[in-house]
Amino acid sequence: MANPNEMLAADRLGKWFTPNKPIDFPEYLSGRMGLLYRIKDALNTQGQHVILWGDRGTGKTSLAKVIAFSIQEPNRKDGKRVIMVSADSVDTFSSLWHKVFQEVLLAQRQLGFTQQNAAIVVGNLDVGETIKSPNDVRLMIKSFSFPVVIIIDEFDRMPSTTDAKTLMADTIKLFSDMNVDASIMLVGVAESIDELFAEHASISRNIAQIQVEPMENAELAEIIQKGYSNSGLAYENGIDAKIAMLSQGYPHYTHLLGLWAGRKAIEAHHTTVTFDDLDQAIPFTLDNVAGGIRHEYDTATDSHQPDNLFKDVLLACAMAEKDHRGRFQVKALRKPLRIILNRPKLEAIAYQGHLAKFCETKRGAVLKRTGLKHNYWWQFTNPQLIPYIKLDGIKRGKAVT
Ligand SMILES: Nc1ncnc2c1ncn2[C@@H]1O[C@H](COP(=O)(O)OP(=O)(O)O)[C@@H](O)[C@H]1O
Ligand SMILES: [Mg+2]
Repeated sequence: MANPNEMLAADRLGKWFTPNKPIDFPEYLSGRMGLLYRIKDALNTQGQHVILWGDRGTGKTSLAKVIAFSIQEPNRKDGKRVIMVSADSVDTFSSLWHKVFQEVLLAQRQLGFTQQNAAIVVGNLDVGETIKSPNDVRLMIKSFSFPVVIIIDEFDRMPSTTDAKTLMADTIKLFSDMNVDASIMLVGVAESIDELFAEHASISRNIAQIQVEPMENAELAEIIQKGYSNSGLAYENGIDAKIAMLSQGYPHYTHLLGLWAGRKAIEAHHTTVTFDDLDQAIPFTLDNVAGGIRHEYDTATDSHQPDNLFKDVLLACAMAEKDHRGRFQVKALRKPLRIILNRPKLEAIAYQGHLAKFCETKRGAVLKRTGLKHNYWWQFTNPQLIPYIKLDGIKRGKAVT
């Protein structure tokens, strides 16, 4: 039975460790100062727009939310308003902008305007009205009496089959050409955004393309330090660094490991989180990892053969030495596989075929291949899978490096 202090600590842990929720207040954000400055500087420059891109799970939505919170000026009637919406796979250009303008209405109302007044503020906005072209958007924004920053998260989810994305690029171009007092920030996974602006070379100088890379170990360690000290827990020297290392740049895991190790300590009635608590937290972390990641792993390694090598070869891929773009060659698998399988001699033929299979849709295409025959490069499609594979390796009793 937990005592009141332990219950309080458990509640606080839940507030500071949020594996499934983006950060939305600056005090909960760790690290990322350099990125915050760059994004703010761009958004505060007239005529500049921003593309924030990076792999899933690197912390893009969190950055966008913290920026939104810190640059808005809600206490001034003509102060800057930040509107953040999320795109989805059924959005059209028109439906997306309806979401944006509805948010403006809401933001105005929260500031104490009535529905009617808000409508006047945003230029008699009838949200049933169709916004078809970039110029419709421009006219709508021109009617505002305050500057706006519009953040569109998950931009990559918008369908490529319609002209929705191209029209967005046209809108940014029009805003730049006509000096509209509004900035747009598109947030999403790399590829789709790159392609899009390839056609609009002329506006590239008006767009700051900012990459969000996986987090540094020191930044991840800070999540643990802040989380435990604000929950009233001490921790054995080096646990913060160990959790950072296990997270491989991805804060989702830092939050999960921090949360479950803290809970294990509380369960055992101590106020110091130990390495033993961390060991116990690993299976709970694996069980609670975001559904998509677990599904990807299961699809990639599914087999009816009892002595199949899928999990071990994938673990070797996770452990393989990689270049700065996360790519590796088949020869980089030899050393980790020897360790994993505990076999001094291992022919490449035993595992080469697995790599090709990991690229097939049947195995969820967890790897992608580039380069030419005899000189292929391989990389994880979703690098956020790497820490999961390693944690599962540890749980399976493998020597993970
Ligand atoms: N700088 C940060 N400090 C602390 N936690 C973070 C940070 N960035 C992201 N997180 C956490 O990591 C997880 C994934 O972040 P999220 O912003 O959703 O990533 P993305 O949008 O790139 O997929 C969330 O649980 C979030 O709370
Ligand atoms: Mg996101």
